[in-house]
Amino acid sequence: MLKLDLINRIRELNKDVYGFHMPGHKRNTDKFGNDFPFDLDVTEIGEFDNIYHATGILKESEDIASKVYGADETHYLVNGSTVGILSSILGNTEEGDEILICYGCHKSVYNACELGKLKVRYLIPSIVGLNPQNLSLCKSADFEITPDLVYEKLEEFPSCKTVVIVSPTYEGIVSDIQGISKVCHKRGAVLIVDEAHGSHFGFHPYFPKNSNQLGADIVIHSLHKTMPALTGCSLLHFNGKLVNREKTLKYLGMFQTSSPSYVFMANIDYVVRMLDNLEQRERLFSEYVDILSNLRKQIKEIEGFTLLEAGEDVASSYVHYDRAKILINADSLGLDGMKLSKILDEKYNLLFELSTKEFILGMTSIGDTKEGFDRLIIALKEIAGSKLNTKNQEISSKVELGNINNTLHNIDDSNNITDDKEFSQKAKIKKEFVDIPYNIKTTDISLDDSLNKVSGKTIFAYPPGSPILVRGERISGNVLDTIEWSLANGVTLEGMTGDKISVVD
Ligand SMILES: Cc1ncc(COP(=O)(O)O)c(C=O)c1O
Repeated sequence: MLKLDLINRIRELNKDVYGFHMPGHKRNTDKFGNDFPFDLDVTEIGEFDNIYHATGILKESEDIASKVYGADETHYLVNGSTVGILSSILGNTEEGDEILICYGCHKSVYNACELGKLKVRYLIPSIVGLNPQNLSLCKSADFEITPDLVYEKLEEFPSCKTVVIVSPTYEGIVSDIQGISKVCHKRGAVLIVDEAHGSHFGFHPYFPKNSNQLGADIVIHSLHKTMPALTGCSLLHFNGKLVNREKTLKYLGMFQTSSPSYVFMANIDYVVRMLDNLEQRERLFSEYVDILSNLRKQIKEIEGFTLLEAGEDVASSYVHYDRAKILINADSLGLDGMKLSKILDEKYNLLFELSTKEFILGMTSIGDTKEGFDRLIIALKEIAGSKLNTKNQEISSKVELGNINNTLHNIDDSNNITDDKEFSQKAKIKKEFVDIPYNIKTTDISLDDSLNKVSGKTIFAYPPGSPILVRGERISGNVLDTIEWSLANGVTLEGMTGDKISVVD
């Protein structure tokens, strides 16, 4: 059994207490039942610690989290990585500053920039330098940000003193944080790593190291994405002397609820103590890696499916890819990601995190079971069998790059890319940005009339919540194709007004 320290303390502190305080359920499970964990739902009163000024039971737990993740200081978040990102960016910039961010950042990064009226400069990845292997088929992925690219952009925009990198990306692509942090620190710039999808990093050699161990100044983890944590449970880590910790925490107190529930904090404590128990951690991770590596191997053996992944780069000292992510392409079977995910859902009750035209994306964790993975293999074998047997099916034996439409992000295809090798050399996303004030007047117009105009709003595809067009970006034909395709395929787009697009007058 796992040791549930914070939970035991809550129970101890609540024993025989009649509460004349919030919350209104009064922990009365006799009256309101046990469907919700009312008995653990206390907030910061009496001997319970304060999430914003922790000195007691929470501080003790946060210190264990710092040790486990190799950070100088850790703070618990009950409103997701979103509040960690908002606070980190506003806590380390002044209004109107320039900031350097990955184009593919989560919408919380863009929201922070808008709140701080920041002048945004972009890191636009290419796959040059990466050994993408068949991941290059997945043209909609956000590729790796290299230290060279960060260096180049900091030379171009020397007043940027804050850099935000998302690593791993939603698709699992990992950047060289060690190299990037060196480049940032030479310039005195704070490096914030949105590692929301990587709270399992650093606990097994099968996965990359976590960014606290690689020189990042701030690292943000969504425990709920890849650890046994309730939705909303996250961590904010500080390292080194560059970060303005006080100001970041001030913003955290503004953005996050003033009534954090111990249901969440006790759950974070549970995860942290589980990771702190070496024997338990090694057992959980080695069982997980066993079934995961076997799953990946089996998917690769099924004719008709391609498991998209980055190749191992022996020359570099870090892992480029998070193998916890399962990206499956079924073009050879004549199935796009949407169709494949529909079959898996409706026929096999297997629900995937995301589907795009090119792939389906599955997330795995130490919570997975061999039975669950076996169900996927059986389903994929059946689907491949029935598709391959259907002779009138148009099956191409090789996936042609030219046929894979760029879905969520916008790689410039004007280079006439015809094969994998060429793609990895040439594919660069070309975008043009114009600095516009945040209060600029905008007009909503039809997509057809918007070509070459400057976008007045950022449009996010949800999921994953990363942009397909940002405010101040000149609208290209490529972007319009992507928007039209997304609308036609039921992708939720935030930032549009119905089917109209907002442009600068
Ligand atoms: C890359 C990335 N960063 C940050 C977030 C925000 O995380 P949370 O849901 O914990 O607020 C998400 C959410 O999906 C994400 O994908």
